[in-house]
Amino acid sequence: MKQVVAGNWKMNVTATEAEAFAAAFEPQGLGAELLLFPTALAFGALARAVAGRGIEVGVQNIHWESSGAFTGEISAEQAAAAGASHALIGHSERRHLFGETDEEVGRKVSAALRAGLTPVVCVGETLDERKAGRVDEVITRQIDAVLGMVSAETRWRIAYEPVWAIGTGETATPDDATAAHRTLRTRLVERLGGGAAQAVPILYGGSVKPGNAAELLAAPEVDGVLVGGASLDPASFRAIAEAAG
Ligand code: 13P
Repeated sequence: MKQVVAGNWKMNVTATEAEAFAAAFEPQGLGAELLLFPTALAFGALARAVAGRGIEVGVQNIHWESSGAFTGEISAEQAAAAGASHALIGHSERRHLFGETDEEVGRKVSAALRAGLTPVVCVGETLDERKAGRVDEVITRQIDAVLGMVSAETRWRIAYEPVWAIGTGETATPDDATAAHRTLRTRLVERLGGGAAQAVPILYGGSVKPGNAAELLAAPEVDGVLVGGASLDPASFRAIAEAAG
């Protein structure tokens, strides 16, 4: 399976800046599956600028309803109609800054699949949870909240993003990442069966940079990376993608 190199731009990058990124980013010669998550306002500009260049574009969040009186929200159907292939769901900033619950994450996964989007489900423990030895319990609970919405045939991805490693410069060691990914994989095997479990890429996210990408991408069970800050610069995003197989 190709490794996935995804960039989450969060609340950064205007439409004009997205066009400049696309003009400067050279995808040629990269073997990884490339994926970018701009804001909804930069989505159209980026999607047009990268069309046909082997880069897919997704949205950072969706609502679970398909339309209606939900001011400020975007539906999975609207994202798909705009050309989105993927949707990030349950990013830790959504969970911790905006109070998104496991139950809402599950509903959003259903909505993404209904609209034909590939969900990228984010899970990860806080520093307190890690210190209390609760990593496996927390990420298993988070993944269990979506396992009722997927089947062995579903195309989806998981991103393990320990909250303490996001935007902090702290990175999980390759061993930490492997251990958490093994926990998730074991759960997938139990619920979906071995073949289907192997087909779900599990990405690592949290302060991935050109300097640490190679060792993280080489770690067992790490099928790709979800990059925040270092994906904003075309040269550093390319350098990370070069480290992928
Ligand atoms: P950073 O790479 O900036 O730590 O962000 C990680 C992340 O949250 C990606 O979704």
